[in-house]
Amino acid sequence: MTRALVIPLPGNDDLAGRILGRLGAELGQLETRNFPDGETYLRIVTETKGRDVVLVCTLDRPDPKLLPLIFAANTIRQLGAAQVGLVAPYLAYMRQDKRFHEGEAVTSTIFATLLSSAFDWLVTVDPHLHRYKSLDEIYSIPTRVVHSAPFLAEWIAANEPAPLLIGPDIESEQWVSEVAARANAPYRILRKQRHGDRDVEITIPDLHEFSGRMPVLVDDIISSGRTIIETARRLKTQGTPPPICIAVHALLSPDAHASLHEVFGAVVSTNTVAHESNRIDVCRSLAAAVAAALGHHQ
Ligand code: R5P
Repeated sequence: MTRALVIPLPGNDDLAGRILGRLGAELGQLETRNFPDGETYLRIVTETKGRDVVLVCTLDRPDPKLLPLIFAANTIRQLGAAQVGLVAPYLAYMRQDKRFHEGEAVTSTIFATLLSSAFDWLVTVDPHLHRYKSLDEIYSIPTRVVHSAPFLAEWIAANEPAPLLIGPDIESEQWVSEVAARANAPYRILRKQRHGDRDVEITIPDLHEFSGRMPVLVDDIISSGRTIIETARRLKTQGTPPPICIAVHALLSPDAHASLHEVFGAVVSTNTVAHESNRIDVCRSLAAAVAAALGHHQ
């Protein structure tokens, strides 16, 4: 049987290499650049006719990535590939899951429709599921979700002997409760009110019963850092030591990252988005999910 072909979009070589090594797949190649007018040129270099093709493209800062990705998937289909799947370790546009104000675009559904039209299946890591219970509510193609919880728990067990896990808001309970169970540690979920993109209010309960434990804040996404910084500030009022911060998806700008270091003892993330805080590799489970998706689709 011909081996699957894994093709990274620009900036995804490290993720693709880690996945294909575990899959026993072959590395494929595409070429892309911008014409002087800003439009995209794209060419699939490796022969894809009759092959099972996996495109790897994490979707942080997604807008400039989306058109090349759609062009690549469509071209691979036109060239006669047997199947084209997408590995997007970070899946963008999951947070606008509701029309909060009249006239707003519910971008999660539009983005899902676009990707579903271009790919046969999708593999991702911990998508931001809040009002949707599952990706199936908006994606019409088969999807597989990799959970980072076992990897986060492994890191915590190896690095912090007495953790207290903290989730900043109700959505985080799905991740934090699982990590806490696996790390055999207590957890608390806080309450968050968001007043604007960079304006959040966090309410914390009395945590004195956990004195002597190191707070470990876990959130799926850290972007501006306001949620997690505000949480750390509230914790400090109860005399806790500078906490540890763990993000699944580090969408942090360099400025936001620097601000985090002012309030946290350590900042750690998984490698779904390339960032200097990456310490936790989730590719073992990503490769297993890709193998299952490929097998299922044949
Ligand atoms: C939203 O509910 C997410 O789980 C994160 O808490 C949020 O996206 C973090 O964003 P920021 O770092 O900009 O506060």
